[in-house]
Amino acid sequence: MTPLANELELVKLDHAAKAVGKTPHNIRDYIQRGRISKYDPQGKAIKRAQNGELRVSLKELRTFLSLVEQGLDKHHEAGLHHELGFHNVPEHQRTKHVHRLHPYLGKFIPQLVEWFLSRYFKQDDITLDPFMGSGTTLIQGNEMQMHTIGIDISPFNCLIARVKADKYDLKNARHTARRLEQFDKVRSSKSISVIQGDSRTQETRSLIAKSLPPSRLIDGIFTSPPYVGQIDYHDQHIYAYELFGFSRKDELEIGPKKRGNLSRPKRSTSKGSPPCSRISFHS
Ligand SMILES: C[S@@+](CC[C@H](N)C(=O)[O-])C[C@H]1O[C@@H](n2cnc3c(N)ncnc32)[C@H](O)[C@@H]1O
Repeated sequence: MTPLANELELVKLDHAAKAVGKTPHNIRDYIQRGRISKYDPQGKAIKRAQNGELRVSLKELRTFLSLVEQGLDKHHEAGLHHELGFHNVPEHQRTKHVHRLHPYLGKFIPQLVEWFLSRYFKQDDITLDPFMGSGTTLIQGNEMQMHTIGIDISPFNCLIARVKADKYDLKNARHTARRLEQFDKVRSSKSISVIQGDSRTQETRSLIAKSLPPSRLIDGIFTSPPYVGQIDYHDQHIYAYELFGFSRKDELEIGPKKRGNLSRPKRSTSKGSPPCSRISFHS
């Protein structure tokens, strides 16, 4: 091993996962989010790893994880409700049943959605998430006996959410059967609607109105708006747009990474708010 490789404590991904008590999936996620680098066996940082050459630095990984730990302290110092860290919720619960059907950067932990929905909504309420992303609010709300409506500008995010929300003939589902089965056991008969559109427009408001059960208004909004300058929600799944030929709506995406940190969202072009009777929450 080169001195540099020694210093970085380079190891294969599985080894790294074991050493820090995480899963290989977690480590890949840290790489994908740019939290730790990819190296070749000689200690050279690389963009693309050839077969079997991928190494990560245990030293870098431990530093990153200890920063995350310090984040926990910040969380307490910030005076947030102690339950809102969800640090004790194990990975398999954070990604339970359909929530891990497809990778999606920056999704809600379902337990966080559950925490808020159980306090501010009740069974049979209609919950709107105007920036639903991969649909965590929709699935969790349904599990809690609520009707849910979600909007997203990205056609592929809508597909992810629809695939999670759809009811299947489980005898025919194969690879994803186990997760679908787990959600099927807890899902309610309440409706889930996925709308592909720009949350800020009148056109989308009319689509929401059409998807409401008769004589009902939305009871509240629960959402996490796009993280300005952090993620490209279309580019994240670029392969899917190429494979399925989805039309891209990049120009309508709020605050994409490629427009940088300064790209603040434009003021809403829509007059008024969604057909909503009570309350709204966002992160
Ligand atoms: C922070 S993510 C939401 C993640 C979600 N809470 C989850 O658990 O998966 C914000 C979402 O807003 C969507 N978005 C960006 N601009 C939008 C717009 N103009 N109208 C509707 N959705 C938009 C992005 O595509 C992205 O999926």
